[in-house]
Amino acid sequence: MSNYHIKNFEEYFQVYRKSVRNPASFWEEVAEEHFTWQKRWDNVLSWDFTKPEIKWFEGAKLNITENCIDRHLWSKGDKTAILFEPNDPNEPAEKITYRELHTRVCKFANVLKSRGIKKGDRVCIYLPMIPELAVSVLACARIGAVHSVVFAGFSSTALSTRIVDCDAKMVLTSDGSYRGSKTIDLKGIVDEALEDCPGVESVLVAKRIDSEINMKEGRDEWLQPLLDEADSECEIEIMDAEDPLFILYTSGSTGMPKGMLHTTAGYMVYTAYTFKNVFQYREDDIYWCTADIGWITGHSYIVYGPLANGATTVMFEGVPSYPDFGRFWEIVEKHKINQFYTAPTAVRALAKHGTELVEKYDLSSLKVLGSVGEPINEEAWHWYNDNVGKKKCPIVDTWWQTETGGIMITPIPFSTPTKPTYATLPFIGIQPALMDENGEEIHGNQVDGRLCIKHPWPSMARTIWGNHQRYKDTYFSAYENKYFTGDGALRDEVGYYRITGRVDDVIIVSGHNLGTAPIEDAINEHNAVAESAIVGFPHDVKGNALCGYITLKDTGESRDHTNVSKEVNQLITDRIGPIAKLDKIYFVSGLPKTRSGKIMRRILRKISAHEYNQLGDTSTLLDPTVVDEIKELVKADA
Ligand code: WTA
Repeated sequence: MSNYHIKNFEEYFQVYRKSVRNPASFWEEVAEEHFTWQKRWDNVLSWDFTKPEIKWFEGAKLNITENCIDRHLWSKGDKTAILFEPNDPNEPAEKITYRELHTRVCKFANVLKSRGIKKGDRVCIYLPMIPELAVSVLACARIGAVHSVVFAGFSSTALSTRIVDCDAKMVLTSDGSYRGSKTIDLKGIVDEALEDCPGVESVLVAKRIDSEINMKEGRDEWLQPLLDEADSECEIEIMDAEDPLFILYTSGSTGMPKGMLHTTAGYMVYTAYTFKNVFQYREDDIYWCTADIGWITGHSYIVYGPLANGATTVMFEGVPSYPDFGRFWEIVEKHKINQFYTAPTAVRALAKHGTELVEKYDLSSLKVLGSVGEPINEEAWHWYNDNVGKKKCPIVDTWWQTETGGIMITPIPFSTPTKPTYATLPFIGIQPALMDENGEEIHGNQVDGRLCIKHPWPSMARTIWGNHQRYKDTYFSAYENKYFTGDGALRDEVGYYRITGRVDDVIIVSGHNLGTAPIEDAINEHNAVAESAIVGFPHDVKGNALCGYITLKDTGESRDHTNVSKEVNQLITDRIGPIAKLDKIYFVSGLPKTRSGKIMRRILRKISAHEYNQLGDTSTLLDPTVVDEIKELVKADA
């Protein structure tokens, strides 16, 4: 028997040791006992980080939706698979059983087929958090189409860039979405995006807000009439273990967002196994992850991981602040949530509103609390622990990435003693390493360095869509024979890990990864802007907020800084989305640069954090006087 469900700390160590002694045989056991295969694999693992090439369960045949839906029909057809909680608290929640999910996914899959979608085609999904989003993801997987979900808060330019990059044939969207008291015209954004996407042949539109929208003849169709007509059975497409399952874009420190490609079998095995253990999910539990399916957290821990375990997974359409800041707790009480998984930024935003709203609701159903997306600071950790978990629910601070597909460093609840701000220990099968600046591994405890992983795990991304060289350069070139995460970490006296943050030019704002380069590109489009540099600075709710340093072109005439600031933020909203707007903008006469012309962001970061005396080595600066000017500006503003 493989230890599918780890129950105590001793067992964790035992299973961990086994998993790293022989990873292939460990994962083979898990795969064998807990999933449905159409054909068994010929080889569990082959890998070469120098190419890099990683293959898990080669030769196996399967369909992930058979594992997430069909195989549960017999034993739990009437169990709720997806519990949909709408934006408006007065609209009833919707319980979709496994049987209903099967029918809806099959119908949707048949609609996709009828519109020419075949195995391997890319389908871009730009939908709000409504059941159609989860259903369409699964429908793609059922017929072997590769889904690429784009978070519905991204702008039309960001959307079109992603559609073009993965060459999607079809876009799935809705007439609009609700966000608190507002509605958003998603279809309008899609229409704008598609002006630059000649490859898109069809757009299927779900009805959500009943607004008047434009339907383009020959391209756009309403989804519902097609679903009504569709057959409710759809055979699974038999997929190879390493066939692509989905592409999901994540920001890089430079250039285009990276389309991380995940494949089928390894992703399924790892997300299912981590879900079961990290949340200690039991048969009748109601599990809620507040993320959006537009991010990896939603892919792995709203859709695939929970459904592969036959769990009940909640999908929430709204925001934590609507109709008031008690909404999360109202939902916990209403649906008797047992596992609650959210982001530190949400915890901080809610903590700001005191404890009255938390105390108003009965949260006694809660067993496990989770945190993901960014480091959770000590204060937020304690607030979460004391007021939400009432000191009875272990907090799993889960560290992982879009690239890793599943949770990598985390406590196992009721087993691993937790420690505020520490993600604690590697999950089963994960072999972390801390590296120094010379590329050497740092052994022992009470050390810090750059976080790498030494051995492949089943759910790692296999490539960057269309750019394998970039995949190699970004993740496998910094340290020989290791996957480099881009994060820094420290290991304490007992071997617990604490993630200290990104060591590259990615900034995490409210849990969203943002690359500095695309934001600077957007700013530089402004006709008055000569140059810009973006850095993150500590923010009490968002974790980090963005600060821009801008130099204006010397045109002889003066520009109104307030107007330029507004226009710059509008450009960012248009090019990327409102999540990337700048909280602070400083107009300066020059940026700190090295003699070779490289902007010294480290200095800007320190100044923005008001750490004026920790600027480090400034001897390579071309013009030290700009630093003094910037310091004075920021100090005056503080
Ligand atoms: C950060 C989200 C500290 C980290 C699943 C990582 C975290 C990036 C944690 C990936 C955590 C995620 N503690 N930092 N528990 N979880 N991060 O791709 O910098 O959206 O590299 O995946 O978020 O963000 P992504």
